[in-house]
Amino acid sequence: MKIEFLGHSAFRIAAQKTVLIDPFLSNNPRSSVKPGDLTDIDMVLVTHGHGDHLGDAIEIAKNNDAVFVAMYELAHYAASKGVKQFEPMNIGGTIDVGGIKITMTNATHSSDFEGGAGHSAGFVVNFGDHSVYHTGDTGVFYDMKLISELYNPEVALLPIGSRFTMGVKEAIKAVELLDPQVVIPMHYSTYPAIEQDPQELKRAVGDSTHVVILAPGESFTF
Ligand code: NI
Ligand code: MN
Repeated sequence: MKIEFLGHSAFRIAAQKTVLIDPFLSNNPRSSVKPGDLTDIDMVLVTHGHGDHLGDAIEIAKNNDAVFVAMYELAHYAASKGVKQFEPMNIGGTIDVGGIKITMTNATHSSDFEGGAGHSAGFVVNFGDHSVYHTGDTGVFYDMKLISELYNPEVALLPIGSRFTMGVKEAIKAVELLDPQVVIPMHYSTYPAIEQDPQELKRAVGDSTHVVILAPGESFTF
């Protein structure tokens, strides 16, 4: 499984299928790719409607004929914009898309999009041999322990930027609750308002969990 960081909260995860999560690319000052560069995407997962997550998801889903996966309201919004294949879901549910199991998890955060509102979510993506938890935008919450008990994600993608999401202090607690093998920090230093030093998380976590710090365009193979 290859996990490529595309900047902010965007990841391309390539295993038996290629999954794209929260592709905020064309308006992202630190993105490593342009939407048109992505031509191998099987499914696009969007955690919530904020522009730095919905981003280029609709365009990419259309261009790749990919399956758009999001909360009910947001999935139907994408369909109204011309996305042909879409899978609406909601918190607590699991769907199987081409052999990949996708569970929608809670996130403590707001959400809106053009003409709609909704809730925010995260995803646990289970590829069979490996699983990844993308928390979406969220503060830390104790039910991360429940997510760990139910789905046992090996890799956790955690925001550390603070202001709009948890910061480093809370991410340290999230690592304790989730106890993953690997943590990759996200949603930081895209803008001055969310400037953070990911080394602080790495130092605090120590050797118990592997903290992998990726610059946009870098990847980690698990
Ligand atoms: Ni947000
Ligand atoms: Mn955000």
